[in-house]
Amino acid sequence: MTDPGVEQAGIADRVCRVLDEAGFGYALFAKVESDPPIETIEAAAAFYRERGCGPIIGLGGGSSMDAAKALAVVVSTGEDLRAFRQGRPVTAPLLPVVAIPTTAGTGSEVTGVMVISDLQQKVKMVMRGPSLFPKTGILDANLLEGIPSRVAAATGSDAFVHAIEAFVSRKATSITDALAFEAVRLLSSHVRKVVADSHDLQSLHAMLMGSCMAGLAFSNAGLGLVHALAHPVGAFYHVPHGLCCGMFLQPVLRYNLSVCAEKLARLSGALGVDTGRDNAVSAAKRVVENLEEIFGDIGIPRTLGDLGVSDFRVNDAMLDDAMGAAPTRLNPRASGREDLRRLFEAVG
Ligand SMILES: [Fe+2]
Repeated sequence: MTDPGVEQAGIADRVCRVLDEAGFGYALFAKVESDPPIETIEAAAAFYRERGCGPIIGLGGGSSMDAAKALAVVVSTGEDLRAFRQGRPVTAPLLPVVAIPTTAGTGSEVTGVMVISDLQQKVKMVMRGPSLFPKTGILDANLLEGIPSRVAAATGSDAFVHAIEAFVSRKATSITDALAFEAVRLLSSHVRKVVADSHDLQSLHAMLMGSCMAGLAFSNAGLGLVHALAHPVGAFYHVPHGLCCGMFLQPVLRYNLSVCAEKLARLSGALGVDTGRDNAVSAAKRVVENLEEIFGDIGIPRTLGDLGVSDFRVNDAMLDDAMGAAPTRLNPRASGREDLRRLFEAVG
């Protein structure tokens, strides 16, 4: 399971050559689009059944890896994906999935989460369950070489947000903190380098490690309001997930600051920000400013207008979606409908 870009870049060929050399038969489905809809997974399932396939390789960004997980659910259980929409966890045994990321972003190679779009309902269905953890993840920075800088920036932004949201989550533990902290350190030291030079293998490797550690952190600690807000905006306006998350990070951090200043201040160590004798609130503000600078440097927009969306309006469906999303409950500061409306409007 991959996407046309990965195929055109010759990355799928490299994996196919390895399979050829090992004597494995395979079939290539290279039609996964970003934010893959249910229909694509159904088409892939028909393709899969026609060819009598076996284990599934997801090669690409989060969309391809999640599409591989979704395909495993459909062909292993025979169920419609919509059956898992209301939070029913995926627990049935599935065919093995091998996840090979070609971006340093979602960390889907180590998470029990997948996001599939329902285009009719205009929602991103976030599905979870112990069966959704891939059997194997392969992290190879060579596969990221030549990554377009806008893709490196958008996916790096997503990974960064995973680490930060996991760090301040209500479900964070010392173990997820360690993973998230190191993820922030790796991502902050290397994201600008990979956006500037897509052939810097050392930095690409660091980004891949950082995004994977962020994935491990959020898969256990959960996420927060940035993701609760980004999903409905992505579903309604088709804005790339990483850009949408980057856009919401500042307003959400400023909203959260009063209740998690001490925790945010600790990130100064990972970011290399000297906070001297600042108290927790001032140190946390410097952390937020530093993040703003990094996200600005890699070209993350501040508003939907910067992305060409001129007709943004907060609607009830988006508010319902964000109110009911699991990350809203894990965000360090509780929020009501009007808080969410204001946060949505902050990027309008
Ligand atoms: Fe994300």
